[in-house]
Amino acid sequence: MRVAVLNGVNLDVLDRRDPELYGGVGLSELEGRIYGWSKELGCTTRCRQTNHEGQYVDWCHDALDWADGVVLNPGAWSHYSYAIRDAVELFTVPVVEVHLSKIEEREEWRRESVIGELATRRITGKGPEGYREALEFLAGRR
Ligand code: DQA
Repeated sequence: MRVAVLNGVNLDVLDRRDPELYGGVGLSELEGRIYGWSKELGCTTRCRQTNHEGQYVDWCHDALDWADGVVLNPGAWSHYSYAIRDAVELFTVPVVEVHLSKIEEREEWRRESVIGELATRRITGKGPEGYREALEFLAGRR
């Protein structure tokens, strides 16, 4: 199974953000874990991160022709980017929306996700482990 993991805005500075919310792990450590879990599960995974919305949309488009499953954490774009929503709508493969923090229990404006209804599954508040759960779901282990 080929999995595209697309992390969005501000996830490159994860290790500088509130460890209580985000787990205190840097992006390269997070991606290292994701590649390790992928190997265990027999997935071929491609992790990408950008702070540029158009780039994120382009990578969603790339994944259309490549991925059998997609893991998305668009960061703050999750709450308002209809451009990303329109791109996510094009997927015909399972999409797992992951948030490190429990967005449902945070500020009002974070509780809404514009991609939420398009996701096959949403995992929040589990820190980096949420990505493992997403991969296991896609690999059919959950
Ligand atoms: C986040 C939650 C978003 O509200 C926030 O803007 C992020 C990270 C998460 O993983 O918990 O950047 O997507």
